[in-house]
Amino acid sequence: MSDLLRAERLEALYAEALKAAENAYAPYSNFKVGAALLLTDGQVVTGTNVENVSYGLTVCAERAAIARAVVESGPRIRVAAVAVANLNGAACPPCGMCRQVLKEFMDSDGDVLFPFDGALKRVRLDEVLPFAFEAELKR
Ligand code: THU
Repeated sequence: MSDLLRAERLEALYAEALKAAENAYAPYSNFKVGAALLLTDGQVVTGTNVENVSYGLTVCAERAAIARAVVESGPRIRVAAVAVANLNGAACPPCGMCRQVLKEFMDSDGDVLFPFDGALKRVRLDEVLPFAFEAELKR
C-alpha cells in the first residue's frame, strides 16, 4: 500500500471529515455531514452539507468538497480517498448522487471511508458504485 493511503492517514482523513461537519449548514434535517478528500498530491480538501429551504437544492458534503477542490486546485484534481462523517453517530455511506460525482475524479479502486454498523468502514469506490456510468464524452 502506498504511503498516501496508510491506515493512520485514512483515520486522520476521517478526523478531518468529522471536524468539517461542525460547519455544516443543516437546519432542516439537523444531520451534519463532513467530507474530506485526500487528493493524489497529498492535499486534504473538506466540505459540508449545505441545506436549503427548498429542500431539493441541498448540496451534500461530498459534492461541496469536490467543487471546492476543483475551485482551489483546478480541473485535473484526482481523489485518492474520501472520508465521510456525521455528528449524529449514524451510518453515512455517500448517497448515490455523490458516488457518481466522486467517480468523475476518482479511480475505481479509490478508498471510501464512512461509519457503518458502529465501525469505520473502508471500501473501494467500485464496491459502492458498481456498473458506474462511464460514457466517453470527454473532449
Ligand atoms: N447528506 C450528505 O451530506 N451526504 C450524503 O452522502 C448523504 C446525505 C446530507 C444531505 C442532507 O443535508 C442531510 O445529509 C440529510 O439527508
